[in-house]
This record gives sequence, C-alpha cells and structure tokens, in this order.
Amino acid sequence: MRKNIIYEGADSLTYEIREIVEVAQKIEKAGISIIWENIGDPVAKGEQVPEWIKKIVSDTTKNDNLSYGYSPTKGLLQTREYIAYERNIEGGAQIVPDDILFFNGLGDAISNVYTYLNKKARIIGPNPAYPTHSSAEAGHAGSPHITYKLDPENNWYPDVADLKKKVKNNSNIVGILMVNPDNPTGMVCSQKIMREIVAVAKEFDLFLISDEIYSNLVYGGSEHKKLASVIGNVPGLAMRGISKEFPWPGARCGWVEFYNRDKDAQFARYAKTLIDAKMLEVCSTTLPQKVLPKVMGDKRYYPYLAKRNKIYWQKSEKAYEIFSKIPELLVYKAYGAFYMTIVFRKGVLNKNQSLKPKNKKVGDIIKPLIETPQLDKHFVYHLLASRGICVVPLSSGFNSDLYGFRITLLEPNEKRFEAVMNDIASAIKEYVAS
Ligand SMILES: Cc1ncc(COP(=O)(O)O)c(C=O)c1O
Repeated sequence: MRKNIIYEGADSLTYEIREIVEVAQKIEKAGISIIWENIGDPVAKGEQVPEWIKKIVSDTTKNDNLSYGYSPTKGLLQTREYIAYERNIEGGAQIVPDDILFFNGLGDAISNVYTYLNKKARIIGPNPAYPTHSSAEAGHAGSPHITYKLDPENNWYPDVADLKKKVKNNSNIVGILMVNPDNPTGMVCSQKIMREIVAVAKEFDLFLISDEIYSNLVYGGSEHKKLASVIGNVPGLAMRGISKEFPWPGARCGWVEFYNRDKDAQFARYAKTLIDAKMLEVCSTTLPQKVLPKVMGDKRYYPYLAKRNKIYWQKSEKAYEIFSKIPELLVYKAYGAFYMTIVFRKGVLNKNQSLKPKNKKVGDIIKPLIETPQLDKHFVYHLLASRGICVVPLSSGFNSDLYGFRITLLEPNEKRFEAVMNDIASAIKEYVAS
C-alpha cells in the first residue's frame, strides 16, 4: 500500500470472551466436550424465552406489515414515547422521546459513542472492564484505555479516590463510564457511590456514561438505581437494551438516553453527531422496537424477571459457598447481571503450575499457549485441557491488572451448575498445589 492503511487502534480491538472460543473449539475437536462458561448469552445457555414473549413477536411479524420497514432514525416514536414515560415516572432526570436514540444492540451504541468522540478526548472506565467499552475506547484514542479501580476488597465498588486522582491528573479525560450492574463482577453500585462519581464529573466538567443493560437483573436484596436518579444537571447518557432482559440478544436492539443536553452546548453537539451518524446508517432494526412496549408493558414481564432474578441469586450464593472456602481466592457474591469474578490472591499463581490434560492431543494444543506471561490465562488454558470448562481470564479478557476469571450464572440446570462450580474449585485446589 502506498500509504499506511492500518487503523491506529487496530491492536486494541480484542474480545477474549469470543477469542477463547477458538482454542476451546480445537480442544472440542480433540474429543473433549466443552462446558461453555465464557459467554453471556442466556439463550445459548439454554434459558427459554417465555411463550408469551414469542407469541408477541410472532403476532407482530404476522399482523404488522410496518415491522418489515425502516423505522425513523432515532427509533419508532411510539416506542420512544413508552420508554420516556417509564423513565419519567421513576423520577430523576426527565426526558422526551427525542432524547432517545436506538442502536443495533448496545455493541453498536458503544462503538459509535467512542468513534464519534474527539480523538484526544478520553473516557475513564472501570477495571475490570467490559471489553467492548475498553477496546472501543482504546481504539478510538490509539492508546490504552484509562481505568479506575473496582475494589476487589470492597464488594467490587468503584474506588472513587482512585477515580478522582486519575481525573485530576489527566486533563484529556472528558467522561466517566460506569457499568451498573457490572459485567464481569456482578457488582451493583450503591446510590451513595454513584452520587460521589457524579460529584467528580461536576467538579471537573465531565459527562457521564452509564451502561445499564442489566438494570432489571438485580437480586439478593440489592437495589439498583439508575444514573437518571443521581445525575442532577450534569450531562450524561444511559445505555439500555433487551439482549439480557427478554432475553433476545439476536434482535440486536439497544438504546441511549441523553440527559441534560440543554446544560452543555458541546455535549449537545456530541449527541447530535451520534444521531447524524445513525442517520447515515438510516435506522436500527425495526422489529424489536415494535415488540418492546408490548413485552415490557405486559403484566407478566416483571414477575417473569423476578423469577429469573431469584434463580440467579441462588446460583450466586451457591458459587460463593463453593469458592469462598478456598483461601487462595478472593470472591464476592454477584448482586446483579449474571456473572461472578473469582480473583486469585497476590502471589498464588506461578508459571510452573499445571493440571493434567485429558489426553495428549489437548496437551499439545495448549502447550504453545501456556507460554503466556498472564498467569490467569495460563490457568484458564489448563482448566480447558483438563476439565473441558471454558471461562474467561480476567487480565486479558477484562483489561484487568488482577489475575482471576469470570464465570456465568446462566446454567439453567441447578445440579449441573453446582457440579461445574465444584469441578472448577477442585481444579483450582489441584492447580495451586501443583
Ligand atoms: C455491559 C454490557 N454492555 C453491553 C453489552 C452488549 O449488548 P448488546 O447485545 O446490546 O450489544 C453487553 C453484552 O454482553 C454487556 O455485558
């Protein structure tokens, strides 16, 4: 090529949650059946979409010819009216339908939110980080993602002092990202800490991004408060979607709610850029938008979510009971989303540890891979080869400086869930003692 055609942030676009699958598939081909604990797709894990939701979808496809057409750029007006109404009756920041912009899943929203931000402007996000945010942000800046600590010694709550120090020392930071409830830790942020984060944004003239895709998946007595409840007059945006809730990840449907565009001209211009960019794409997928108010407005919807949440809580307690007995680990119960992060305490891992592979072939597959300097990845490959269990390492998967891994609470069969957790626990004991 006569000029460099490589995107500056090309090396930042990594997504270990799916990359680990390639290794697992090779192991599967070598005759080992895999237990997929890596991906947050409830449907792929066997969760059944309720019949009444399927009926709403099928009736819409049969009876509503417009569900096959384009929708307005921002999304169907009726759907945005529904969302704005529901938002406003909760109290906090008030919105109108024009403050809502639909995307083809939040993956699309996340990509646009960072792509259309001035290249020098940085968003600080949590560590551990959900990689779609951290990779897209790093890619946009052509420089590693800047993070603040979620404290593994304090329920994974954001360390606001760390956040404030980093914001103070880096004038390129223009915004703060929260993921609440959090992926990968299952943390649900307290309203007190959210207020402190908003105060940092206010003090340093920043805007806020809150990824709330799991906002209706909360349990164990914890209460989730949305960004809108604490944002006051600081500019910000919240992200929501139906991938996890319905669950319908294949619909590729999510939306952004803009708050306080009238309080900051630059933020308003930035929001307009996102809307204009969507206009170039014409619009987002119509069918799930048609369906959304019918499903969320159905009297069966919240009881259905309550039932699911109860089951996630039981699994969170079970996994905690199993892993908290191992002194080399640091573990907290999940209170939201459907993930838990298990951390190896400092100094526990070394590169000489191993597990016996199920057969020679799989041993050979992981041999070149375990040369990695990331010691949790080393464990994850051994776990794959010896137990056929596929989890995601914390360091490479979630941009973290800690060693650990993420499990999901998605396995629908309780007995099987417990057996898999026990199997991971026995592998850890064997590994650290090896
Ligand atoms: C925190 C978070 N945000 C966004 C997404 C992307 O969701 P979508 O299916 O809407 O693209 C995910 C998916 O796992 C997620 O965990």
